[in-house]
Amino acid sequence: MKVQTLPPIDGNYNLQDYEQAKQNFDWSEIEKQFSWHETGKVNMAYEAIDRHAENPDKQNQVALHYLDGSRKEEYTFADMKKYTNKAANVMKEAGIEKGDRVFIFMSRSPELYFALLGAIKVGAIVGPLFEAFMEGAVRDRLEDSEAKALVTTPQLVERVPFDDLPNLETVFIHGGVDDEKGGFLDFDARLQQAGSDFEPEWVDREDGLILHYTSGSTGKPKGVYHVHNAMIQHYQTAKWVLDLKDGDVYWCTADPGWVTGTSYGIFGPWLAGVTNVVRGGRFSAQDWYDTLDRYNVSVWYSAPTAFRMLMSAGDELVKEYDLSSLRHILSVGEPLNPEVVRWGEKAFNLRIHDTWWMTETGAMMICNYPAMTIKAGSMGKPIPGVYGAIVDDQGNELPPNRMGNLAIKPTWPAMMRAIWNRKEKFDSYFELNGWYVSGDSAYMDEDGYFWFQGRVDDVIMTAGERVGPFEVESKLVEHPAVGEAGVIGKPDPVRGEIIKAFVALREGYEASDELKEEIQNFVKKELAGHVAPKEIEFRKSLPKTRSGKIMRRVLKAWELDLPTGDLSTMED
Ligand code: WTA
Repeated sequence: MKVQTLPPIDGNYNLQDYEQAKQNFDWSEIEKQFSWHETGKVNMAYEAIDRHAENPDKQNQVALHYLDGSRKEEYTFADMKKYTNKAANVMKEAGIEKGDRVFIFMSRSPELYFALLGAIKVGAIVGPLFEAFMEGAVRDRLEDSEAKALVTTPQLVERVPFDDLPNLETVFIHGGVDDEKGGFLDFDARLQQAGSDFEPEWVDREDGLILHYTSGSTGKPKGVYHVHNAMIQHYQTAKWVLDLKDGDVYWCTADPGWVTGTSYGIFGPWLAGVTNVVRGGRFSAQDWYDTLDRYNVSVWYSAPTAFRMLMSAGDELVKEYDLSSLRHILSVGEPLNPEVVRWGEKAFNLRIHDTWWMTETGAMMICNYPAMTIKAGSMGKPIPGVYGAIVDDQGNELPPNRMGNLAIKPTWPAMMRAIWNRKEKFDSYFELNGWYVSGDSAYMDEDGYFWFQGRVDDVIMTAGERVGPFEVESKLVEHPAVGEAGVIGKPDPVRGEIIKAFVALREGYEASDELKEEIQNFVKKELAGHVAPKEIEFRKSLPKTRSGKIMRRVLKAWELDLPTGDLSTMED
């Protein structure tokens, strides 16, 4: 590895010198650390896996510790190279080529990681799907991306509406196929038979890597498109912010169905060459502490909801585990309450470091890096090479301590390159004088720290997951009893927000608890459990604008007992 232009930002480094060095920062210097910087021909999977497998000092190091129920396995970087090569061969034999969209719909298992990196090795664009998605959610994503192949399991394949997906040619099943005559290919058997050598497809740095579908306040989920070039920032933030060093054991608790689970559950840590821990299964405080203890985790990246759930498991439980290896804890996805930071200090004798970024930014942007003095409740400061600001609705920069739109000056290495098939959506992010406008409101204090205030739009963050109210409303009104629906986030002490729906029933339907439950189950069955309203309130009618748009702002005011504000656009 060649020299770094900036010294590592760790606890020993003088922050003032660092701030100075930041002034002349240039990403192209960082890029020189990669072998491809002169040719421009690159493959993320090579840089994350093969490069270490070819290094005699690294090849026998554990790359992946996997644990779920009775399945407990470990894979070295050499093993990972072998299995991702095999997966690449399986895909190539099935006709998958550069630029094809290959979706991965399965719960966390080693095979998920083989399939995802194998698809990247053939030059495909991967689309990870959260395992909780039901038929409607799966349809929207595979249809919009015109996915050609899917890797899934016998349980989840039932949720794939094949009749609506004419482009979906190939389906691999992991976990058992009776015979391949039904058109499903047996991923495990093919993986076993496939050759262990594979020459990665060398793609351009601006070629497609991954599509993450995410929600806005209007319309269907949008496909946020990222390219291989993002690795520059994945790698550098893994060093600067996660503080990953040789010998570290790292655990990111996010599922690869979400951007944190790929950028920092796969790419960042493996680009940095550390041992990565993956624990399957649902949340349990015991299992989580056990994971930290059992693998001697040194760096841990999680989310406020998880910390709050651990907090509510009590102060005694954590004392039963040996967490002395833990050196650095980080958080992302929702506001990290000062109370949780204080609990973290008590429970782990460490400060939880907050980080801010989005699916669209592709990598960390505003962070508390190790050397910084943490102001509990602040998201930190922009990392070197990122210029963040608070701007007004015309795109003018605001002075410190004024609330406004959290915006970033384009561009940075991991920035999304497109919204799949929707140029106008992409352009709409840059309408304020060319700033990338995040949709978050915040202010910056006089020391340059950023403080999150809320979303500007109606996007809901529940247990760290981003939910678009429109998607839920559209599903609700498909239920025969529902005439109109409006969906908001209702503040919740553990989950940040929960989803609450206001529903006006159609003529002939009576409000009842049974009907509530039926409507909840309908959304659960069609979209996913985590987007189903936890609460439903029936109303005779809902507040609407004259053009018929549900006024979520008014619903929120009802819920929080706040003044409803200007109602001049409301219909009578
Ligand atoms: C929110 C997750 C407060 C924010 C990586 C953002 C945060 C949205 C923080 C993106 C934080 C993320 N404090 N809020 N540290 N980090 N958010 O795309 O509203 O799932 O716009 O990406 O999460 O969510 P997404």
